Amino acid sequence: MKRFAGLLTTAAFSLTAAGFSSSVLALDVEAAKDLAEQNNCKQCHSLRKDKDGPSFMKTAEKYAGKANAVDEVVKHITSGKDVKLADGSSEKHKIAKTMPANDAAQLKNLAEYILSIQAK
Ligand code: HEC
Repeated sequence: MKRFAGLLTTAAFSLTAAGFSSSVLALDVEAAKDLAEQNNCKQCHSLRKDKDGPSFMKTAEKYAGKANAVDEVVKHITSGKDVKLADGSSEKHKIAKTMPANDAAQLKNLAEYILSIQAK
């Protein structure tokens, strides 16, 4: 059984590496990284260190075990609610732009990526 699971994981990884994306494969890490890059999320976030915004690892910890985690994160990155920056100023949180606009699958993939970041 263990061996079978290992084979499945390998298959999923090689498909992703070959550039296929499919809703059947849970997470497309490269696509999520690209989207974060294009949206400049890294200006305020990093994977494991807090900047102006919490690290993605911290967000993953915050939502660990919560059934609505993906929806909450998608909501956060699409609703532009007020957030406080380290210098005390506040601004509307960045709204993630996708091509085509508001692509639910890409937003969900990015949220799942954020929620997958764990301590090394
Ligand atoms: C100008 C700085 C800035 C940019 C750019 C930015 N964020 Fe944030 N982000 C913040 C701050 C500040 C918070 C903390 C908000 C709070 O706790 O109220 C935050 C919080 C978050 C959270 C935690 C939400 C939660 O429910 O706890 C996530 C996830 C997130 N940002 C993702 C993103 C993504 C994805 C992008 C790019 C599309 C992005 N951020 C771009 C500043 C930024």
